[in-house]
Amino acid sequence: MIFRQLFESVSSTYSYLLASRRGGEALIIDPVLDKVERYLQLIGELDLRLVKAVDTHVHADHITGLGALRDRTRCITVMGEQSKVDVVSMRVADGDSIEIEGLGLTAMYTPGHTDDSYSFVMEDRVFTGDTLLIRGTGRTDFQNGDARAQYDSLFNKLLKLPDDTLVYPAHDYKGDTVSTIGEERAHNPRLQVSSVDDYVAIMGNLNLANPKMMDVAVPANLRVGMRQEEIEARGWSLGCDEVRNLVGDPGVILVDLRDQAERRRHGEIPGSVHAPYGELGDNVGSGGLLHELVAATGKHLVFYCAYGERSAMAVQMAQEAGLRDSRHIKGGLDAWKKTGGPVTPAAG
Ligand SMILES: [Fe+2]
Repeated sequence: MIFRQLFESVSSTYSYLLASRRGGEALIIDPVLDKVERYLQLIGELDLRLVKAVDTHVHADHITGLGALRDRTRCITVMGEQSKVDVVSMRVADGDSIEIEGLGLTAMYTPGHTDDSYSFVMEDRVFTGDTLLIRGTGRTDFQNGDARAQYDSLFNKLLKLPDDTLVYPAHDYKGDTVSTIGEERAHNPRLQVSSVDDYVAIMGNLNLANPKMMDVAVPANLRVGMRQEEIEARGWSLGCDEVRNLVGDPGVILVDLRDQAERRRHGEIPGSVHAPYGELGDNVGSGGLLHELVAATGKHLVFYCAYGERSAMAVQMAQEAGLRDSRHIKGGLDAWKKTGGPVTPAAG
């Protein structure tokens, strides 16, 4: 496994680059905008292909690299379903898995620092965001923070992991890099409390100043969505009402780009074919399945995903590969469901 802990010194943020092998798919957790060039350089040097960028929560102390990484690599952006960001490509709930080639993270909803905070468990380690820090815990006094919820996330979720689970937080201000669940249970001063009320009292008396970047970072981090005006101006977007008339049309192939886990949880538009976004380059390129299908039948591709980001990138890739009649569903399955579009359980 390739595992890199990367540091951003202004906000003391740790980001994590993961891959199962050189030359394979990679995932990054909590990337910082100012370090995007560095990540891309390292990803290139290790011969990796970035396919997913994940934030543990909406950060207040730095601007996320999610949007820039998506624009540069066409990777999938991932956050929890509670995040109030305008658009991410994929949203996860407690227990969902986030997969790349050879590796999987399990999402654990751990609210308290913010109401959208997630931790991610991967085999022998857990990425705790700002929920559990080394000898500390994330503040709970803004962004819908809630010390009571954090106590529950800590004591009833994270501390239930095996003692030797490695703890990788989103920040450290002292220079520590890693801890374990057992070590934190024994030595983290915030965890030496006898009740939830004790914990709430400690968290209520921290009197911390707001992060310097907060007024800039939070609004910026709520707007990570891809700008899709250009795609719309080129006539490559379809509204849900237009797509309704295309369901069952023999001249159209509805292509679902989501991962299998998302399909299982949310269903699909009737009559869809499944072609995961991660394999789309091969699929729409000359010799690829979708490319040849279009060439042989003259059918039009209509891509969709969860919120319209992956499909917007897919329609660009298809157009670049010469599939000129390709379109995508603006707003994805989310918009489709909100406008009353029919959904069936996903096949496979
Ligand atoms: Fe935070």
